[in-house]
This record gives sequence, C-alpha cells and structure tokens, in this order.
Amino acid sequence: MSGPHFDDDRDYFAAIAQTYDRLQPVIAGPSYQAGLDFVLRLIPHEAGEKFVCVELGCGTAALTAGALARFPAAECVAIDNETAMLEIARRKLAAYGGRADLREADAGTVRIPECDLVLSSFMLHHVPPEDLPVLLRRVATGLSPGGCAIFLDTMQAGPRWGEQMGTLSGRLYRAHVRAAIASGQTTQDEIDARWAFKRKMRDEGKDVEYRHSAEHLLEAMNEAGFDEAGLVWRMFASTILVGFVPA
Ligand SMILES: C[S@@+](CC[C@H](N)C(=O)[O-])C[C@H]1O[C@@H](n2cnc3c(N)ncnc32)[C@H](O)[C@@H]1O
Repeated sequence: MSGPHFDDDRDYFAAIAQTYDRLQPVIAGPSYQAGLDFVLRLIPHEAGEKFVCVELGCGTAALTAGALARFPAAECVAIDNETAMLEIARRKLAAYGGRADLREADAGTVRIPECDLVLSSFMLHHVPPEDLPVLLRRVATGLSPGGCAIFLDTMQAGPRWGEQMGTLSGRLYRAHVRAAIASGQTTQDEIDARWAFKRKMRDEGKDVEYRHSAEHLLEAMNEAGFDEAGLVWRMFASTILVGFVPA
C-alpha cells in the first residue's frame, strides 16, 4: 500500500504518537471530540475553584489541557504508560508550569494521588475485565470524600442494537472522514494506512482492546465504592459514565 509508513517495531501508541492529535479526531469518528468536549463540561467545579484532578491514560493530554485551561486554579496529574505520547503531552502542557504533573506509569498499578476528580478517556477499553475491579477501587480510594470520576470510552451494547446502530454510525463516520479529507486535515491514503497498521498491531497482540458494557462498568464502579454511578451521555458506542464517592 502507498501512503505513510508506521514503525511496527514500536508499540502501537509509540508508533502513532506523532500523528495522534491530527488523526485521532478523524479516525475515531465524530464522537471522539464531542465526548472530550462533554467530559470537560461535566466537571463539577466552579471556574475559580482550587481542586486536584488526575487523568488516567492521558495520551497526549487533551483532557488535562482542557481542564487546566478552563479551571485556572486547578492542578492536574496526567498519567500514561507510553513515553512517546507523554512527550507530546509535555509540550502541550508546558504553558501550565507546575499546575501540570506528568507521570509515566501503569494505571493498573500506580497509586492514584489524593484528588478531587479523576478523568479518563478511551483508556478503559485497554484494561482487561479482570483488572477493572482493582483499578476502580484504586480510583475510588484516591478520591477525596464526595469526589467524582468521569469515564469516556467505547462501550458495548446488545448485538441487535450494535448491528443497527453500526450501520447508522458507519454512515456518519464516512461523512466525517470525507469532510476531514476535503478540509486537507488528512488523506485517504493516510487513513487507510493507519487502519491497516491498527489491524496488523491488533493481529500481533500489540494493540489489545476489550469491549466493556456500560452496565458492567457501572456495576464495577458501585462495587468499588462509588455510590451514585450513572450513564450521562452516549453517541453510538462512545459513552460517558460519572460516579461520586460518598461525601
Ligand atoms: C486511545 S488512547 C486515549 C488517549 C487520550 N486519553 C485520548 O482520549 O485521546 C489510550 C491511551 O491509554 C494509554 N494506556 C493504555 N493502557 C494503559 C495503562 N495500563 N496505563 C496507563 N496508560 C495506558 C495508552 O498509552 C494511550 O495513550
């Protein structure tokens, strides 16, 4: 295939880090940016309030950058286990000085710093179902009383719903990609090469994804110590769950 080459000796996110911010909003469909924007609008703090936020699986730190820009007194700890993604995040967050703290660590084992808010977007689908209870318990334990977690991710729905909605979301997706190509943001070659690379990495077990359902995640959040976890937003499979720990 013609088009850009991805270095397949590297891990999936290391190989795509340089093009992530430009391509991910196209490849992931219209619900990617819409979901990120809505997460930021859901943050339950006033503009001038001082609070500590932790982002898990921050990647290039779109959510952390958005939170720091909207909440000038907030401090954020952004955690990811991929150096190349964190390098991009570091450049993006440089303007926020000491308010941004980037850490390279595994979300499954890192001690979650004491905080008022935990955010995560499109990271939970990389966590095996059997590791979710421990991760969610760590999150609940890290949160101060009354603290909040907001999770955005692709979540599985029933097979028939999935099939019918798949047709509709596919139509929307193709229109979204066509618009990005027409605007000069990317090319069809680049999109094809990125999907081919993703399929290859998936086949080689280097890009592992799990399809959690919202119902399963909500149950796991309640078992982990959240007392008011609920589904607050959905655009096809992209779903936002919000939970609070007891005050
Ligand atoms: C699909 S990207 C999402 C990045 C960003 N949150 C966003 O919405 O654009 C998934 C990110 O999760 C990170 N990740 C996956 N598993 C992780 C883990 N166990 N611990 C920390 N980061 C992880 C990857 O390195 C990658 O940056």
